[in-house]
Amino acid sequence: MNTPTTTSSLPLPGTRRAWVLAVTSGKGGVGKTFVSANTAAALARRGHRVLVLDADLGLANLDVVLNLHPKITLHDVFTGKATLDEAVLKAPGGFSVLLAGSGLVEYSRLTPEVREQLQRVVATLIPRYDYVLLDTGAGISDVVLYAISLADDVLVVATPEPTSLTDAYATIKVLATQQRRRLLHLAVNQVAKLGDGKVVAQQLQQVVDRFVSTPQGEAVKLSLAGDIPSDPSVREALQRRQLLFEALPGTAAAQAIAQLATRIEAAAPVSATA
Ligand SMILES: Nc1ncnc2c1ncn2[C@@H]1O[C@H](COP(=O)(O)OP(=O)(O)OP(=O)(O)O)[C@@H](O)[C@H]1O
Ligand SMILES: [Mg+2]
Repeated sequence: MNTPTTTSSLPLPGTRRAWVLAVTSGKGGVGKTFVSANTAAALARRGHRVLVLDADLGLANLDVVLNLHPKITLHDVFTGKATLDEAVLKAPGGFSVLLAGSGLVEYSRLTPEVREQLQRVVATLIPRYDYVLLDTGAGISDVVLYAISLADDVLVVATPEPTSLTDAYATIKVLATQQRRRLLHLAVNQVAKLGDGKVVAQQLQQVVDRFVSTPQGEAVKLSLAGDIPSDPSVREALQRRQLLFEALPGTAAAQAIAQLATRIEAAAPVSATA
């Protein structure tokens, strides 16, 4: 939203274009991939065309969550061995995925080639979907920040743990200063009880208000997209190699994801991006 996307990704007047949302976090293992995959399924259930791009180029694991074993991955697209169409797979939740595969370690550094390839892939996807979710790696490496720079908006995933919040704060600060992001969406995952996310968001907002602004001195606002309870069904679905939203839709975590998807939809209605 605040970040210039590439010129080639700009839509022609009247053309539909996807809302690109980067799902990121400071700390690893907080649930980015879980949130990305299940939110994608929830948005697909609501009738949208959704694609999740495994933007964790070095340590991809979306394939594990979705139990997919792709023969063709982003690696082949990057090296020109396959077309983008050949690499796009149908995921169990009714959405599409572009998986990074495990051969992408050489792309974990932001070289001009990685920049160009990622930008080209995202620009090609934009006219074809309503929502494109970028499941990024943890941290604030160059590759992660570059992937985020291609997104219209960012969803920061954090848990209530102090280490996660400290790292989320660091990410928010970098995104405000380097990318001039004035609005960041927040998902608080693994809360002890629903409602805790609101307290966490308020605490984080207080720190952001005191210490973070854009280079132009603008305030940075966190918008709580939702909280998701810590729920044993998340691991159970993973162990069954099934998507929670599909396999156990009645569970507390799946229902929280459905709510989160509704808020995301409200933040970026498809009609508004048309
Ligand atoms: N709400 C939840 N309740 C219980 N377990 C959860 C919840 N969310 C995530 N987990 C578990 O936490 C672990 C990490 O989740 P996930 O792989 O989605 O994190 P990640 O942020 O993508 O990690 P990475 O930084 O390695 O990419 C998984 O084992 C997942 O099942
Ligand atoms: Mg992940």
